[in-house]
Amino acid sequence: MSDNGKHTNVIVRIQRFNPDNDQKPRMQDFQIELKPGTTILDALQEIKTHQDGSVTYRKSCRHAICGSCAMNVNGKNELVCKTPLRERLDKNGVCTVRPLPYLPIIKDLVVDRTAFWEQYLRVKPWLAPPPTVQTDREYRVSQEEVAAIRNAETCIMCGACYSACQVIALNKKYIGPHALLKAFLRVLDPRDAIPGERLADLDGSDGVYRCHTIFNCIDACPKGLNPTEAIETLRKLAQRRLKVEEERLERQKTITEPIA
Ligand code: F3S
Ligand code: FES
Repeated sequence: MSDNGKHTNVIVRIQRFNPDNDQKPRMQDFQIELKPGTTILDALQEIKTHQDGSVTYRKSCRHAICGSCAMNVNGKNELVCKTPLRERLDKNGVCTVRPLPYLPIIKDLVVDRTAFWEQYLRVKPWLAPPPTVQTDREYRVSQEEVAAIRNAETCIMCGACYSACQVIALNKKYIGPHALLKAFLRVLDPRDAIPGERLADLDGSDGVYRCHTIFNCIDACPKGLNPTEAIETLRKLAQRRLKVEEERLERQKTITEPIA
């Protein structure tokens, strides 16, 4: 509502592209009424429901948990379900929404994330416990060890960091900040038995040395995570990976002892 109590009309400018019909993307304006609390996702849903059912985008949880609604708003990647439209209007009352950059467009605001997931799988994102672990016993992990990786655990795989990284734009072989953050999580997890193998995999030219510390990944992360710092830590650990493996083996002698 405007200051005089009347509803305000604003413009949501959406990049449209249907590869079946269009040679290249075009921008289309939709006018909507700005109501209190309207998010950008609410605006897209309003447009789809009442103005043009062909507008295409991804969303699921609507609570910044699933990561499916990451898009580019006024040049910055973010989750549209948690972003108030009011905060992204320019002085002319326009908010511009595009798909995540550097990724192939499937339709309108929906991108093809195949490369994103392929890079993710390269780092073996699952936990690899030692074969001696018995599933009916508890792990001993200290508060300090948990604290070191707690932030990385909150990544929701939205792709905002990946798509903001200009190295990805130039070299699709680069593992990317999302996957390196997951690798960091596993390498530092005291329950994981293969930190040395993981670090060896990241030590090549597509891995930790490909990051040019551009920092776009930090700006783009809707969860306030710091992939750059994680990559820097992995670089240092990769240089002493045999020692890391040795220390992990020592640590795991105590990790599966029964808790008194
Ligand atoms: Fe890319 Fe982030 Fe490194 S934006 S170059 S992964 S610091
Ligand atoms: Fe799930 Fe936005 S819809 S994060």
